Amino acid sequence: MQSPAEQIKERLPIHDVVASYIRLEKAGIYFKARCPFHNEKSASFFVSPSRNSYHCFGCGRGGDIFSFVQEIEGIDFVAALKLLAERAGITLTKTYTKEDGERVRLHDAMEEATTFFESLLVNNPHAKKYLQTRGLTEKTIKEFRIGFSPSSWSALYEHLKTKNYSDEELVKAGLVIRGKRDYFDRFRDRIMFPIMDSRGKVVAFTGRIFANPGVAVPADSAKYVNSPETPLYSKSHILYGYHLAKQAILKENAVIMVEGQMDLIMAQQAGTKHSVAVSGTALTKEHLALIKRFTNNVIFCFDGDSAGIEAGGRSVKLALAEGMEVSLLSLPQGQDPADYILEHGTDAWEKLAGVGKHVIDFYLDILFRTDMDTEKRMLAIQKQILPYVALLQSRIVQGHYISKIADLAHIAPKYIDEEVSKLQKPAVPEAVDVETPIAIKSNAERLYEQLLGYYLLGHLRNDSRIARIQYETEWERITGSTIEQEIAKLEEKVRDDITLQAEILTAGKESLETETNELLLQFEKHFLEKRFQELLIELKKAERDKDTVRSLELLGECQQISKKIHDIKSKQV
Ligand code: CTP
Ligand code: MN
Repeated sequence: MQSPAEQIKERLPIHDVVASYIRLEKAGIYFKARCPFHNEKSASFFVSPSRNSYHCFGCGRGGDIFSFVQEIEGIDFVAALKLLAERAGITLTKTYTKEDGERVRLHDAMEEATTFFESLLVNNPHAKKYLQTRGLTEKTIKEFRIGFSPSSWSALYEHLKTKNYSDEELVKAGLVIRGKRDYFDRFRDRIMFPIMDSRGKVVAFTGRIFANPGVAVPADSAKYVNSPETPLYSKSHILYGYHLAKQAILKENAVIMVEGQMDLIMAQQAGTKHSVAVSGTALTKEHLALIKRFTNNVIFCFDGDSAGIEAGGRSVKLALAEGMEVSLLSLPQGQDPADYILEHGTDAWEKLAGVGKHVIDFYLDILFRTDMDTEKRMLAIQKQILPYVALLQSRIVQGHYISKIADLAHIAPKYIDEEVSKLQKPAVPEAVDVETPIAIKSNAERLYEQLLGYYLLGHLRNDSRIARIQYETEWERITGSTIEQEIAKLEEKVRDDITLQAEILTAGKESLETETNELLLQFEKHFLEKRFQELLIELKKAERDKDTVRSLELLGECQQISKKIHDIKSKQV
C-alpha cells in the first residue's frame, strides 16, 4: 500500500506545485527559476519533473513537494501534507499534532466568521447599497466574500460559541476581544473584507465603517479596523488580493500595487487582475518577495498630489533596492484608483494602467514640468532624483539615466556619475541587507556533494561517463574511508537531492573525466587544508606542553601536507 505522501506525490507533479508559487521557465528537461528562498539575480533554482524534486545551486536547498511547500508557506510537514492532500483530492484519516490542530481550528473559525458576515450582508440593504454606490458588482462582492458585521456587541461571539469554539480560540483568531467582564466582537457595524492568504484561506479581516442609517457613529471611530497579528496572520507577509492576482501577475509579468482595499477590489474588477494591495501597513521586503515569485516588474500607483508621491518614495526605494524594475502610474490630484475608476470607468483605467512610466522618467517629468531657476533645479535633481538613480541595480539602465539627466540639465555626465557613486556607497549595505539568514554551503560541502552525486549517477544509475573514473581508490586514498561507507551515512532525501544536483550539473556533457579529476583534486586540497588546520592546533598545544618530540613530529607532518597542497596547486594551474 502506498502511503498518503506517496499518493500525493504521484498526483501532483512537482512543477505544477512549484509553478503555483513562482514563475518557472522551461530549460531542457528541467524548469528553472530565480530561487524563492534566497535573494538572487540569476536563476539557479532547478525543478526536475522526472525526479520529482528541486534543487537550488545558490542556497543549496532541495527536496520534494512537501519540503517546498513547507518552506515557502512557512509551515511544518504535517500542515504541508494536509495542504497538498487537499489539492490532490486525497482524504487523510489520521489525526495530527496539537499545533497543527490549532491552526486548522483557527482557519475553520475564520471561515465560519466569513460565511456569517456574508449571510448578514445579503440581508442588509444599507450595506449593500453602500457597496453599490462605491461601484462594486454582485459578482465582485461574492468573489471577495465581502460581508457585514452587525452593530451588536456579541453577535459573532455567540454565533461561534454555538459552533463549539472556545473563548481562547476566538481571541487567538483576533475575532473577539476579552473585556473586563466578558468577551465582545472586535468588528461591529462594519463592512467586512476578509483578507486571504496566498491559497485563498481567510486569515484576517478589515472592517470599514459606513453610514448605517439609524446607528450613531462615534466621531472618533477609525475608518478601518483590522485584525491583530495572529498565528494565521502577519500583515507584513500578506498582500490583499494576492490569491486572485497570482495567475495574472505571472501572465502579465507585472504587478500593480495599490494602497487600499477598495482600490484593489476596483482595480481587479476593472480588469487589471494583476493588482494587489498592502493592508493597513507599510510595504515590506516580505511583500516584495511574494511578488518576486512571479515577476520583477512592479507598478506603483500613487495619488496625483505630491504628498502621495512623496509617501510612495519609501516603497519605490525598497523595490529598487530589491533589484526590481519600478514604474509609476499617476492619478489626478486627490484621487485614488477606486475613485478614478468610479468616475472615469474601466476603459479609462485600463488605458491609464497600461502606461506606467519608469520611476526615473516619472520623477524627471514632474521636475521639468515645474518652473524653477537653474540652481534650484540642480539641487532638486541632486536631492530628489539621484537617490533613485543610485539604487538602480542595472549599470546599463543607470548609465542610460545618467546621460539622460546630463542632457536634460546640460551638465557633463561625469558630474552626475560621481554624485551617484557617492550616494551608492552608504546605501548599498543597507539596501542589499540579508534576507532570511540561510546557511550557504561551504565550498568543501559543495564539492563533497558533487563528488558523491557523480558517483551515485555512475554506480546506481549506470551513467557510462562515470564508470571509468577511479572513484573508490581515489576517495579512499584521500579520506581514509570508503565511498560506500560515506553513501551509507546519507539519508535517502539527501541522496536524492545530490543525485539531482549531479544530473543537472552533468547534463549535456559528453565526458566527465577531466572535470571529475579536477573535482577530486580540489576535494583533496580542502581535505588537506582542514587536516593542516587541525595539526596546527595540536602543534600549539604540544608547544605549550613543552613536548618537543611531539612538536617535531607534528611539524614534519605539517610540512608534508603543505608540500602536498603545493603540488595540487601547481597541478591546477
Ligand atoms: N487603513 C487602515 N486603518 C485606517 C485607515 C486606513 O488600516 N484607520 C488602511 C486601509 O487598508 C485602507 C488604506 O489604509 O484601505 C488606505 O487608507 P485611505 O486612503 O484612508 O482609505 P481608502 O482605501 O481610500 O478607503 P475608502 O476608499 O474606503 O475611503
Ligand atoms: Mn478610497
